Amino acid sequence: MSPFIARTIADLRAAVADLRKQGARIGLAPTMGALHAGHVALTDVARAAGADRLVVSIFVNPTQFAPHEDFAKYPRSFEADVEKLAAAGVDVVYAPTPETMYPDGFATTIAPGGPALAGLEDRFRPTHFAGVATVVAKLFTQCAPDLAVFGEKDFQQLAVIRRMSADLDLPVRIVGAPTVREADGLALSSRNVYLSAQERAQAPALHAALQDCASRLRAGAAAQDALALAQGAIEKAGFTLDYLELRDAESLGAPAAGGRWRLLAAARLGGTRLIDNIDARGP
Ligand code: PAJ
Repeated sequence: MSPFIARTIADLRAAVADLRKQGARIGLAPTMGALHAGHVALTDVARAAGADRLVVSIFVNPTQFAPHEDFAKYPRSFEADVEKLAAAGVDVVYAPTPETMYPDGFATTIAPGGPALAGLEDRFRPTHFAGVATVVAKLFTQCAPDLAVFGEKDFQQLAVIRRMSADLDLPVRIVGAPTVREADGLALSSRNVYLSAQERAQAPALHAALQDCASRLRAGAAAQDALALAQGAIEKAGFTLDYLELRDAESLGAPAAGGRWRLLAAARLGGTRLIDNIDARGP
């Protein structure tokens, strides 16, 4: 069945109220559209986490893009997106206009701290997480879901949302979803369409280097040596590295002995910026 398409907050709330009347637990998956299998997998994770009915939002959020970033050319494919969500059994697609989200006079922004200031994405995109936190808080209060799913692909974003939801007592359970990859390891991303054929062939080197680094760490290699090797491999493949960091998986601070570790990277290939991260449990 086709999902109901809600364009206004009132329509969304009415649709969610209807589902709730039937006793359903509501899951929300926020997206910016240009949907791929990684987005669609969020709906499976939401169901596995206990959602009976699903809302997917599609909104290319202007406030999380810096002026020099790709807001204007960000891929948009609404019809195809709705078809994919229909096939995935999504109940409601929420596609608000920019004016609905940011009416004239809008003047309040969430300033996330903690993981939002970890020195990873925030070093290169200093206004990004304020935009993400604000729009996600709005989506939560508009939809009032029982749970919301976010991909580990954007690992720092997931940590920021968890922190914000805890700090602001938002009554939403945050669920993380594993990264969906191409067969060659490249993490699915709406921005992969920007890659030329040659860049697409080079792109899997990023994930391969992270994996190699993680297995060296597991085998007991010193972090400094393993990271230096990975940095060399990523640059040799043609990337310009923004960062490659080993962090504590919870706080995104320095990795502590005995804790869970995460290896995170961002690198540019031509005009395209790719991010990736993997589990890197210490020895
Ligand atoms: P977007 O980049 O469209 O991603 C929407 C959701 O899909 C995010 O939770 C993201 O982590 C997840 N996702 C993307 N690629 C994935 C992959 N390969 N495997 C698993 N999950 C993947 O992230 C955003 O939009 C925005 O910042 C948003 C949260 C919607 C706020 O505007």
